[in-house]
Amino acid sequence: MARESESGLPIEPVYGPDALKDWDPAEKLGEPGAYPFTRGVYPTMYTGRPWTMRQYAGFGTATESNARYKQLIEAGTMGLSVAFDLPTQMGHDSDAPIAHGEVGKVGVAIDSIDDMRVLFDGIPLDKVSTSMTINAPAALLLLLYQLVAEEQGVTADRLTGTIQNDVLKEYIARGTYIFPPKPSLRLIADIFKYCRAEIPKWNTISISGYHMAEAGASPAQEIAFTLANGIEYVRTAVAAGMDVDDFAPRLSFFFVARTTILEEVAKFRAARRIWARVMKEEFGARNPKSMMLRFHTQTAGVQLTAQQPEVNLVRVAVQGLAAVLGGTQSLHTNAFDEAIALPTDKSARLALRTQQVLAHETDVTATVDPFAGSYAVERMTDDVEEAALELMRKVEELGGAVNAIERGFQKQEIERNAYRIAQETDSGERVVVGVNRFQLDEEEPYEPLRVDPAIEIRQAERLARLRAERDRTAVETALSALRKAAAGEDNVLYPMREALRARATVGEVCNALREVWGTHVPNDTF
Ligand code: 3HC
Repeated sequence: MARESESGLPIEPVYGPDALKDWDPAEKLGEPGAYPFTRGVYPTMYTGRPWTMRQYAGFGTATESNARYKQLIEAGTMGLSVAFDLPTQMGHDSDAPIAHGEVGKVGVAIDSIDDMRVLFDGIPLDKVSTSMTINAPAALLLLLYQLVAEEQGVTADRLTGTIQNDVLKEYIARGTYIFPPKPSLRLIADIFKYCRAEIPKWNTISISGYHMAEAGASPAQEIAFTLANGIEYVRTAVAAGMDVDDFAPRLSFFFVARTTILEEVAKFRAARRIWARVMKEEFGARNPKSMMLRFHTQTAGVQLTAQQPEVNLVRVAVQGLAAVLGGTQSLHTNAFDEAIALPTDKSARLALRTQQVLAHETDVTATVDPFAGSYAVERMTDDVEEAALELMRKVEELGGAVNAIERGFQKQEIERNAYRIAQETDSGERVVVGVNRFQLDEEEPYEPLRVDPAIEIRQAERLARLRAERDRTAVETALSALRKAAAGEDNVLYPMREALRARATVGEVCNALREVWGTHVPNDTF
């Protein structure tokens, strides 16, 4: 009796040669680092260089986060990954009424160039690659990063990193959008053009499936809706006059790693093959780098339990292994206590150590794509690929990702799957160790890390000082130039950069854009 996978596909108890009848390795696999990249995006993968250990971190003011980044670099992390607090993600200043209670809570509070300077104090920006999880105001944080690097004497052409900058999935699953889809896509195209001209080694977007997975998407839904969003971004940039090979090599992706290792490896391999084919056949890409699906992975936050939190160490290790066997380029492993509160220094270090064990104590870095040719994993790769392609066809029938979003298609599909998972968990059909089986009579006490509420007051005082010290006329002039560009066709990043250089705040810049573009009002039809 076949068991059902997370995507609702059969997992046969035994696979044999008939699972791969008529299966052509030349067409389905290719060589590692070559089209269709099923086996990985680089010829040598981890035998040449391990994936980037890139731990997502940030809380409090820039001072606290700067200290955590230095601890992580000291502990051996290979790339930075900045978490911003909600006010920053939503384009509000820390002293805006709407920000009350959220300042410095789920990430670091960044209001201006002054804060960004503190955030990277003592960190040489020509020596690290930095990911920033920021979407609607992504352009602002990228420009603040460039301005601070400039002050360090690091020119923009030497900067490496990524902005998430994926607003479409925010309409579907996460909610940190500001502007309506049309100006949001215009801003993203402006970012692509700006980076091509000014910051050529920067990854301009991290097209994300993670948050849709966390909202309940199955592996097939996760890659289907993510790649459909990717297609929308490519169409937008081509319509804005860019040649596909001018920007596609700097697109990147972001997926989850679940505990169901086999299907996750199949999912990653299928996603690479679908994307390579779409870029070559639909968009006529000629540069192989335009067809490579390079991605970051985070272990599944939603699979962490608050009960017996130390059991999460095992889940994260298994999920991290799934990401590595699936060929990830960059990895974040969750801390075991994240279902309860922000990671402590010790739990953050343990999360990184998990990756270091995978990289240095196992043999998974000794050979490329070890599952290649496996009856089970190749069959599962074909099956999840077919299921994802079917969903992508449905999105196309609805007129593409934006039109499907406006009809609520992706959201409804994901919520239907989330409901199924909840029902299976409640009935006990889906075992969650420590939660619905193997429980403890009494949970052991756990002292979580708490963010000091005085942070909000300190941050508001910093803003008051900044507004008192800066040149008001210079700020107003720069913001007027920004409004003019936003109302017209010119690339908004150039006037935006000068406003930020003049110490305009994140809230002021976003408010200037809100005045011109308005804000998105979801038409939730359920
Ligand atoms: N052979 C040859 N070259 C290799 C190689 C190999 N085996 N391995 C690596 N390289 C080269 C690469 O070509 C690259 O050089 P290039 O930039 O000149 O091409 C360099 O070494 C770095 O390698 P990668 O680009 O593969 O690795 P990075 O870590 O620099 O980039 C990425 C990975 C996925 C492309 C990038 O976009 C990235 O870092 N993404 C991270 C995204 C992230 O951290 N997101 C966090 C989200 S958290 C969130 O959303 C909120 C919460 O709610 C979850």
